[in-house]
Amino acid sequence: MNLEIPPGLTDLLQEFTVSVLRERPGDLVQFAAEYFNKLNERRLNEKPQPPRGVRFEAPTPPPDEPMNTDDEDDEPEPFTPPIRNARRPSVSAERYDPETDEGDTDEKIIHPKSDEQRWRLSEAIQNILLFRSLDNAQLHEVLDAMFERKVKPEEHVIDQGDDGDNFYVIDSGLYDIFVEIDGKPQNVGHYDNTGFFGELALMYNMPRAATIVATTEGSLWALDRITFRRIVLKNAFMKRKMYENLLECVPMLKTLDPYERMNVADALVSKTCEAGECILRQGDEADCMYFVEDGEVRITVQSKSDPGNEVEVKRCGKGTYFGELALVTHKPRAASAYAVGPTKLAVLDVQAFERLLGPCMNLMKRNIDEYEEQLVQVFGDKASITDLR
Ligand code: CMP
Ligand code: CMP
Repeated sequence: MNLEIPPGLTDLLQEFTVSVLRERPGDLVQFAAEYFNKLNERRLNEKPQPPRGVRFEAPTPPPDEPMNTDDEDDEPEPFTPPIRNARRPSVSAERYDPETDEGDTDEKIIHPKSDEQRWRLSEAIQNILLFRSLDNAQLHEVLDAMFERKVKPEEHVIDQGDDGDNFYVIDSGLYDIFVEIDGKPQNVGHYDNTGFFGELALMYNMPRAATIVATTEGSLWALDRITFRRIVLKNAFMKRKMYENLLECVPMLKTLDPYERMNVADALVSKTCEAGECILRQGDEADCMYFVEDGEVRITVQSKSDPGNEVEVKRCGKGTYFGELALVTHKPRAASAYAVGPTKLAVLDVQAFERLLGPCMNLMKRNIDEYEEQLVQVFGDKASITDLR
């Protein structure tokens, strides 16, 4: 099937995603309905209606249009999505179109570093998922361009609402994250000597979505906006977009906020399987879990008393997951999984699982009751099934 992305769709969804991130609505569907209704009303008010019978070329939705400059008196008011504490994007912010964007310039930036700094930098970026899809040359260019910034306790590294200048990787130190909710800054998390921040404003050309405050002395590696956009952004942006829809469909992940889901997207790696391929085998050690992006997976279990008796217990379709149980219980795989037809999976490794899916742990533990019931139904009695806990 030849799928064509309609003009304006990418920007429309980008603007919407950013509004959701900033507003953190309780009811996403209601928020979406209000957002798009308001957008439509604004559009109808601004554009003259076409005469009946004349084909109406859909105007570009307002979020795609350049934002007004300060001289707003005779201009129609800019579109304001229904967000609390809304701040308009900076007037200097240019739109990002990942399909065409090749970056602002080819100029390479090099910040010389001592051997000791190089070593610390290479350690700090080990788990930076946004850098994972870079090839060697790109990674070197990024490392050359990074420069060290020392911070002191209580120093604001980023203030919510400011324009984005740098992306930061943490070398050392503790940092608190504050997001304004109903006009008051609320501590929504912290970083402890590892991680990164400051990518959102550079990615979406929006003001900073949170305030980051150092609570100890520390050191950061900063990457300028231009190099970030030229090298890191395209890969990272596409990846987040690619997995966004999948992750929104997984009910368990609704316990995560949109920002946490984006971090899961950064960590996923795609894997394609042929029809009949064994994805994981009962009894094996586990180092990852799987989300089904496309296709179908058959789960089979061997009877404890008769291992030759391998029975299908479940099928997993698009938007479902499997392989989480062994990561929750720290036991070997409790079942085998086979691709039914050609199947596409998104794989989350155990380190990312432990770091990112903590809020979903209770839901995953509850699956165990369901699995046990399935097994009793299939094998008739509890004696024939392996203890899953
Ligand atoms: P940016 O908006 O550029 O600057 C503030 C950064 O805080 C943001 O990018 C994210 O990297 C980081 N951050 C951490 N937690 C959140 C959150 N819950 N919402 C928004 N940004 C967050
Ligand atoms: P895990 O044990 O890591 O690997 C096999 C997976 O099959 C398991 O995680 C579950 O995600 C999935 N599964 C589905 N149904 C069952 C079941 N009845 N018993 C065990 N595992 C099941």
